[in-house]
Amino acid sequence: MVVFQELVAQQYQTSANLNARSQLHARFSANPYSWFRWLFDHFALSPESRILELGCGPGLLWRENRDRIQPGWEFTLTDFSPGMVAEARRNLGDSLPAADFRVVDAQEIPFPEESFDLVIANHMLYHIPERQWALAECRRVLKPGGRFYTSTVGEAHMSEMWEMVEHFRPGVMAQLKSNVMGFTLENGAAQLAAHFGEVAQYVYEDELLVTEVAPLVDYVLSSNTLTGLPLTPAQERDFRALVARRLAAEGALRITKASGLFAAAG
Ligand SMILES: C[S@@+](CC[C@H](N)C(=O)[O-])C[C@H]1O[C@@H](n2cnc3c(N)ncnc32)[C@H](O)[C@@H]1O
Repeated sequence: MVVFQELVAQQYQTSANLNARSQLHARFSANPYSWFRWLFDHFALSPESRILELGCGPGLLWRENRDRIQPGWEFTLTDFSPGMVAEARRNLGDSLPAADFRVVDAQEIPFPEESFDLVIANHMLYHIPERQWALAECRRVLKPGGRFYTSTVGEAHMSEMWEMVEHFRPGVMAQLKSNVMGFTLENGAAQLAAHFGEVAQYVYEDELLVTEVAPLVDYVLSSNTLTGLPLTPAQERDFRALVARRLAAEGALRITKASGLFAAAG
């Protein structure tokens, strides 16, 4: 458990790894409607909402929805990585001058009960060893009638890419399953139901059509500290050559994306 949390802390010291993955999605996703705009579309916000985000990373959700932010919303944006909190402040300070940016571990939320109308945890619950504590904390700080939103991936997410990596680094898929698949579109609803009376799921339809070698290789390398099984330089060279050969033969690599959102309340 502790070892896993150290890998996660190392992975997210800064947004560099996350950016490598975002770049691949930004450049080669088939769905032209942005993921963060789609997420925002599902939020039940009123003119005076108090919003807590856990694991906010560099603040991309709000940066991509800057034009939709209402003056009456009160923001508390948090992450357990001080580097991420600093980046979120840098990226959003101008658009959210009154926001509270803080280092917070989602397993121990330092706010009184019934403080927020919305609690948001995007693509982060799978990183948390004591997830049941974190979910109990999210429930505790929600006001009556408030909503908890949490996005995650499904088991098939990026599977064609990981199958290619597995060829050179056997065991990588099993490592991913144990390190990143603890909270997925398939198993998340049951975990939420232990804390919330209502749970709804929404799926974002998309896939990748990748036409360049380097962004795909960068994505895999960015995940080294999540799998705990980095490619050796020779394996990286062989993986790069395989991607290049397949692109030359197929023109584009189709890669499954499985992402979605849970909305929980009650
Ligand atoms: C995959 S990134 C997602 C960032 C952002 N939510 C997004 O969707 O772009 C996961 C984030 O969760 C943070 N994180 C991991 N474990 C955490 C914990 N126990 N408490 C708070 N944040 C955590 C990481 O530092 C990282 O910024």
